[in-house]
Amino acid sequence: MKQLSLVTAAAFMALALNATADDGSAVFTKECAKCHGADGKGDTAMGKKLKIKDLTVELAKLDAAKIEATVKDGVKDGDKVRMKGFKDMSDADVKAVAKYALTLKK
Ligand code: HEC
Repeated sequence: MKQLSLVTAAAFMALALNATADDGSAVFTKECAKCHGADGKGDTAMGKKLKIKDLTVELAKLDAAKIEATVKDGVKDGDKVRMKGFKDMSDADVKAVAKYALTLKK
């Protein structure tokens, strides 16, 4: 198990190094997939813990601007942070990942 997570960590680091501004899928894999799942369905350990909604369904209600704002500011439920905002993500990466997220829509 420990070895497996090391391999996963290495894979994520490799992706991190490869991530370029217009590669939304790499950003998604690196920053979002651990909660939302690679396919956006949220079928991950974190996703289950957070009772995350299926993003592929939720996306029907969202547009790129809304997703970009969500990535920057995160999601709050009252005072509780449900999803942390990615304050340090470059605007180019935010745009790219929002664009990529929209491709996961059902
Ligand atoms: C720590 C886990 C976590 C990470 C990492 C994460 N999210 Fe989220 N995200 C959530 C939770 C929890 C919500 C709250 C809504 C829900 O219940 O699904 C949410 C909501 C959203 C929503 C809004 C859905 C709606 O109905 O308004 C979008 C869009 C979204 N995330 C995209 C992303 C993107 C893109 C990334 C990567 C840059 C990302 N998330 C990273 C946990 C996470």
